[in-house]
Amino acid sequence: MAASTYHPSTMRAWTFSSGGAPEQVLSFNSSLSAPATPKGSDVLIRISHASLSSPGLNLMRDIPSLLRKNAIPELDFSGRVVAAGPAVPAEFASGTAVFGSVSKLGSIVHNQGTLAEYIVLNVDCIAVKPTNMTFAEAACLSCLGQVALEMVRQAKIKKGDRVLVNGGSGAVGAAAIQLCKDLGSFVVTTCSTKHVDRMKQTLGVDEASASDFISATDNKEMANLFSFKMQIIDYSQVNSVPTALETSYHASQFDAILDVVGSQELFRRCPKYLKPEGLFINVGDGDAQSGRLGFILRTLRNLFQPAILGGIPRRYMTFSAPLSGQNAAHLADLASSGKLQVLIDSTFSLEDVISGYKRYKSGQAQGRVVIEIANMDKQGQ
Ligand SMILES: NC(=O)c1ccc[n+]([C@@H]2O[C@H](COP(=O)([O-])OP(=O)(O)OC[C@H]3O[C@@H](n4cnc5c(N)ncnc54)[C@H](OP(=O)(O)O)[C@@H]3O)[C@@H](O)[C@H]2O)c1
Repeated sequence: MAASTYHPSTMRAWTFSSGGAPEQVLSFNSSLSAPATPKGSDVLIRISHASLSSPGLNLMRDIPSLLRKNAIPELDFSGRVVAAGPAVPAEFASGTAVFGSVSKLGSIVHNQGTLAEYIVLNVDCIAVKPTNMTFAEAACLSCLGQVALEMVRQAKIKKGDRVLVNGGSGAVGAAAIQLCKDLGSFVVTTCSTKHVDRMKQTLGVDEASASDFISATDNKEMANLFSFKMQIIDYSQVNSVPTALETSYHASQFDAILDVVGSQELFRRCPKYLKPEGLFINVGDGDAQSGRLGFILRTLRNLFQPAILGGIPRRYMTFSAPLSGQNAAHLADLASSGKLQVLIDSTFSLEDVISGYKRYKSGQAQGRVVIEIANMDKQGQ
């Protein structure tokens, strides 16, 4: 396919040139140079929506300022191909509705991001947008869905497995629950009171009624009574999640624990509720108190300290999930058949991104915070 000649010269975008919080480092640029005409297997995409995310915030905060020059934040987007390089397959011809993610390398090395009107990406980063999803929803599907997908793949979740998703109310956790359910596994999850209703209504965790929760009492008899129904643990109502799990799941241990919170205590005590051959996967940042170094040292200990030298006798895994258009396409297939959904909490205009981040960081959002850029849903495009 021949490259199109379409080439905007400037665009609106948020940029940052030093590390920090969005309200400190972001500035709005109404005439940033637009990306160059795509070559090879690259496509130029006009962005409809982008979504705010934990990796977006982490990449803005953690990468040394030395590497940042007019970096554009965030990874996820939906939009339309407006120009395609000569080696781009027909599937992604100009006009195709697509979604996907900037790779972490693309963000760090090329300062690429999605809070902008246009982006040039390799076709390896994108997939065709599911037709049953809005552009706003598709902008929430890729990056954090791929993290969940990698967790489920690494844990080799299969029908009948018993899986604990620690932190099911966030973007990764919600996707992990749905992927596990699709594979036919039995899911137990943790979340706080404000998310319980949404979790039951939208994610279909194996929950019967609110009375089935483990409550603040950690009552053994009650826990035993409900041990077959109890699938949401309200972490804000129990004294200790590991204690609640020890009580309720000692006799029916998990095949895998997918931790998106990063709870060291959950791993330390997991031999009581994770099968000996089970796998504990953590992608969560954990508590901020011990700092970055503490987190790294703890991770090394979890990975390499043998049980005979005091290590926890269960397999531990952590990773930075690889992002690809192929994985995004897999998620799109699941979304097309209604097996994977995303919930949107709120939408902000591109100019109002700082308010969007405020909402995201408030801890009150019930679902994803989306940024509307060209809004191709409204335009019926
Ligand atoms: N390794 C990777 O490749 C990778 C990639 C992306 C993200 N991550 C990491 O994965 C984690 C989750 O990301 P995300 O985007 O899904 O975050 P998110 O959407 O911000 O959600 C975090 C969720 O965790 C819940 N939570 C907090 N403390 C909890 C606890 N003690 N027990 C149970 N739930 C708790 C929060 O609910 P409440 O409102 O109730 O507190 C919130 O719903 C982050 O730490 C992120 O850095 C890793």
